[in-house]
Amino acid sequence: MMIGEGPHGPGVLVIEPMGNAGRFLVEAAGRLGVRLYAATHEDVHDGYPQWLRAALAGVCATDLTDTPRALEDMEAFCRRHAVTGIAPAWELFTPLAALLAERLGLPGNDPRLAHAPRNKILMGEAFAAAGIPAPRWAVAHDAAEARQAAEALGWPLVVKPAEQGGSWGVSVVDGPDGLAEAVAAARRFTHAGPHGLELDTRVLLQEYIPGREYSCDTVVVGGVAHPLPVVGKDTTEGRYRIETGHTCPSGLPAPLVREVQDIAARAALAVGVRDGIAHTEVKIPPGTGSPYVIETGARLPGDNLCEVVEAATGVNEAVAQLQAVLGLAPDTAPTRTDAASIRFLLPEHGGVLRRVEIPDLPGTHSELHLRPGDTVPEPSDSACRIGHVVARAETADRARALAGRAAARSLVEVG
Ligand SMILES: Nc1ncnc2c1ncn2[C@@H]1O[C@H](COP(=O)(O)OP(=O)(O)OP(=O)(O)O)[C@@H](O)[C@H]1O
Ligand SMILES: [Mg+2]
Repeated sequence: MMIGEGPHGPGVLVIEPMGNAGRFLVEAAGRLGVRLYAATHEDVHDGYPQWLRAALAGVCATDLTDTPRALEDMEAFCRRHAVTGIAPAWELFTPLAALLAERLGLPGNDPRLAHAPRNKILMGEAFAAAGIPAPRWAVAHDAAEARQAAEALGWPLVVKPAEQGGSWGVSVVDGPDGLAEAVAAARRFTHAGPHGLELDTRVLLQEYIPGREYSCDTVVVGGVAHPLPVVGKDTTEGRYRIETGHTCPSGLPAPLVREVQDIAARAALAVGVRDGIAHTEVKIPPGTGSPYVIETGARLPGDNLCEVVEAATGVNEAVAQLQAVLGLAPDTAPTRTDAASIRFLLPEHGGVLRRVEIPDLPGTHSELHLRPGDTVPEPSDSACRIGHVVARAETADRARALAGRAAARSLVEVG
């Protein structure tokens, strides 16, 4: 659906399009005829790739770490450019988007819950208030407090930063011996790059939920939730849980798909999503059929999930988000019943990338995240990913197997 054209289409301000969602928002804006603007810092803008610069109708240069100033600058910018939609793209700036939309009287998320989709402690409170099934949790400022909290939660448990993403600082801990190290790992993030945003350094301890993991996005317009397709997720096992791949459709039976979609929608509403999109992750303990919500972000998913979902179902989540922030009915009906799977190439250890080759198998395409000569971080979070393969096929099993085959035949040398 075209809702505008070139300079005459509606204007949407994206709060930090640098990141995985940016490319999908740019493409969606092109399809819809939306003028896309970015709010960012000028130093961060200097690092934008050419395709992103070229796609933007304008840039609001401000300091996104200074909330009053950023709100003032963005409000003036939106009025000057007749912007009528605010789209958060970066999880840490979702509160700014809610506050800005309120100031401008535009569709947006509940400003009273603005921080709940960013801060996992406030998220835990919002889930508890709404009766969302989620892991039991406790907050700790240091290892001593964590030891006390662990007694109540039991082992294994999950230690994570209150505010972070990409599995950074997340550890699954089996017993007291590993706890102090896990708390230190979670507390090491005091600021988030590239803006230097100050983070809540409190640590969250959560009951460990066993079972398979899924994600489900929800587009919400005027407080009405529209569920999007469910995606199956693969992760590493052990102390560090890094997402190794995603497959759509999820392979879950239809009633459980509806259950996941329902819980994801409730979680999105619980953290105040009213006009926008939410990305929710759940785990289903074996043999239960009862999903637990791990987290919800008020943003598009990362990990090229927009591509995977569209390839499998025809649903374009970035289009749906732009429609939602403009207060329009979102296009959420699937138009195909194919399957797609993404698999990430992970190193066995950190070092320097010497060589990488991903075979060009029919039905797949690949992308490198790192180049030979780049430093490869230790495989403790998603920053270590070397590249990915996307496979399309008629069924989820085939797509997943094909992506797995391409990854297995890839050559990665880290010295
Ligand atoms: N309570 C839990 N029980 C079981 N596994 C968990 C729990 N919390 C987190 N995990 C595992 O750790 C992963 C990362 O945790 P979480 O999603 O909370 O962190 P994140 O940094 O926001 O992740 P990302 O941005 O990659 O989605 C999850 O995808 C899941 O595999
Ligand atoms: Mg997560």
